[in-house]
Amino acid sequence: MSDVHVVVLAAGKGTRMKSALPKVIHRVCGSPMIELVLKTAEVLRPRRIVVVVGHQADVLRQALGGRPELTFVVQEPQLGTAHALLTTEAALSGARGTVVLLSGDVPMLSRETLERLVDRHQKTDAAATVVTAVVDNPHGYGRIVRSGERIARIVEERDASSTEREIHEINSGIYAFALDGLFDAIRGIAAENAQREYYLPDLVAIYRARGLEVETLTVTNPDEIRGINSRAELAEVGRLMRERKNAALMAAGVTLDDPATTYVAPDVEVGADTILRPGVSLEAGTRIGSGCDIHSGARIINSTIGDNVTVLNHCVIGDSTVESGATVGPFAHLRAHSHVRERAKAGNFVELKNTTIGAGSKAMHLSYLGDATIGEAVNIGAGTITCNYDGVKKNATVIEDRAFIGSDSQLIAPLTIGEGAYVGSGTTVREDVPAGALAVSAGKQRTIEGWVERRKKK
Ligand code: UD1
Ligand code: CA
Repeated sequence: MSDVHVVVLAAGKGTRMKSALPKVIHRVCGSPMIELVLKTAEVLRPRRIVVVVGHQADVLRQALGGRPELTFVVQEPQLGTAHALLTTEAALSGARGTVVLLSGDVPMLSRETLERLVDRHQKTDAAATVVTAVVDNPHGYGRIVRSGERIARIVEERDASSTEREIHEINSGIYAFALDGLFDAIRGIAAENAQREYYLPDLVAIYRARGLEVETLTVTNPDEIRGINSRAELAEVGRLMRERKNAALMAAGVTLDDPATTYVAPDVEVGADTILRPGVSLEAGTRIGSGCDIHSGARIINSTIGDNVTVLNHCVIGDSTVESGATVGPFAHLRAHSHVRERAKAGNFVELKNTTIGAGSKAMHLSYLGDATIGEAVNIGAGTITCNYDGVKKNATVIEDRAFIGSDSQLIAPLTIGEGAYVGSGTTVREDVPAGALAVSAGKQRTIEGWVERRKKK
């Protein structure tokens, strides 16, 4: 592959979505659909990626702000797909070779198809190569009209004759073009059709009339080129992508108790012999090791989980790390760069924020641990709270190895509890506790004998 440029069309309004947002930033399997398209395009290592924006251009630009490699061109008004490609002429000035045209609303296209498209296009030295598919229901798509073996033209549904509507081979809207002469040819396209728009597919007939080569590449799995135009199609494509991901996980040795309710983002990695129970969500940026057991209702976002980790029911783990042999949950919340080290436990109703629990340490019940660094083999009793916020700023708590924090203690940060120190149950710790010391703050207990009987008599 040499000299490849990519244009992504994303200027359309997406009327059928009935949305205040641009269509292409609606999420499929957790990612804005245009992000999926851009990710797939990376396989071509393009020299330039030009995104054609129009409707709500600023919102879309902002949503893609994290991608400095993109060039945006504004198409205003939106006069059709040929007009959209024409607006990239200045952005592509001086470019040579191949331009690949992608649609921001076709997110399932595979890398393999894209590579094959460019390969076929460049090997055959065609002026244009069209990705097509043979589908059961061609309704709404442009139809591929062939003369003999060769593609003759593409006709849109609205402009097709009744015989042409019987054709099941459709235009995916994905093409490779030779840049040489492309924009001049596009200027020859007229808006003589039902929609009064400039149709890019008309280029096929123009090229063929000039005796130029137009190739086709027919995908074997037509789901790849499904476009999203409505919320129903958004859900349907989401389901198909999920099924594809789940099938790949199972093929790689992951058990899914109920694939229909298992939600795994495309980039997530899961090791062999891990079990995903029903209703698990693994979101973008997550890596899970092997031999783990992830129970129902767990939601894991952008986090790394080691081997043989148990995540019990209904945990939320975000931007965090859980190391091998650890146990989390049920009902635990790990957030903002928390770190549960080897064999440690963060149990029932435990919330961690920016906190490390050292190897083999335990916080089993009802705790809030924020901005804390907890050493190894520490026991955090039920109901322990780090008071990390003084009303102005967040303060750190350090609990050294083998310390023991009694239940229902409040640790008022900034604070250090030394190695092996004990904190008595119900203590409000305001000052550092040195290694080996015991800190208690509760007063002496009063016991009044016979109090209950006397009360009854009153
Ligand atoms: C288009 C093709 C059709 C093909 C189908 C595949 C045309 C005329 N028809 O139809 O043959 O079967 O895709 O999905 O090309 N866009 C712009 N500017 C515009 C118009 C559209 O940027 O002025 C963008 C849209 O945002 C969208 C893409 O181009 O991302 C396709 O446009 P859309 O209106 O959805 O075309 P279809 O009717 O689906
Ligand atoms: Ca479309």
